[in-house]
Amino acid sequence: MQNRKRCLISREDIARRVAELALEISRDYAGRDLVLVGVLKGAFIFLADLVRALTFPVELDFVRLRSYGGGTSPTGEVQITKDVELPLKDRHVLIVEDIVDIGFTLNFLRQHLATHRPRSLKTCVLIDKKERREVEVPLDYVGFVVEKGFLVGYGLDCGEKGRTLPEIYVLDKD
Ligand code: IMP
Ligand code: MG
Repeated sequence: MQNRKRCLISREDIARRVAELALEISRDYAGRDLVLVGVLKGAFIFLADLVRALTFPVELDFVRLRSYGGGTSPTGEVQITKDVELPLKDRHVLIVEDIVDIGFTLNFLRQHLATHRPRSLKTCVLIDKKERREVEVPLDYVGFVVEKGFLVGYGLDCGEKGRTLPEIYVLDKD
């Protein structure tokens, strides 16, 4: 990661927003059988903070996806390299993802998890990055809306760099 970067979202703002999302999710799902499905690796820090702020117990599972950007098919460019392991049938499922850009990845994952016949299937993303969206995927809980730019930190990486930064940065184009 050679690029210069500037801080876009501070740790305080992240913490405040994650707490708000956790409260909303707790209100909506309290007392229900909820499985959160985190998308590795980008969502691991967001998910870890989010679950610890929930006011009721949930179960956790993970998927790992490989996305090939720039394709023409809305789903064909994504591969599952690690699938869910918990049973999802008839359970409430909430996907937790770091960032939605074009929309291929989350759209693919929603379609894939829908084949398990969950009772409900919703999405929670830390960042909704608008500019390049091609697939309109429903976003039920959104942390921050960003127009464009390549972001790193708080789980988000650029070629594996920047993931462990506690704030979110935007890389300068140069
Ligand atoms: P898309 O919505 O199919 O374009 O894919 C979203 C995925 O691309 C995310 O899960 C991230 O892994 C990656 N991605 C998109 N934008 C960014 C970014 O700004 N920083 C880091 N990863 C990104
Ligand atoms: Mg990702």
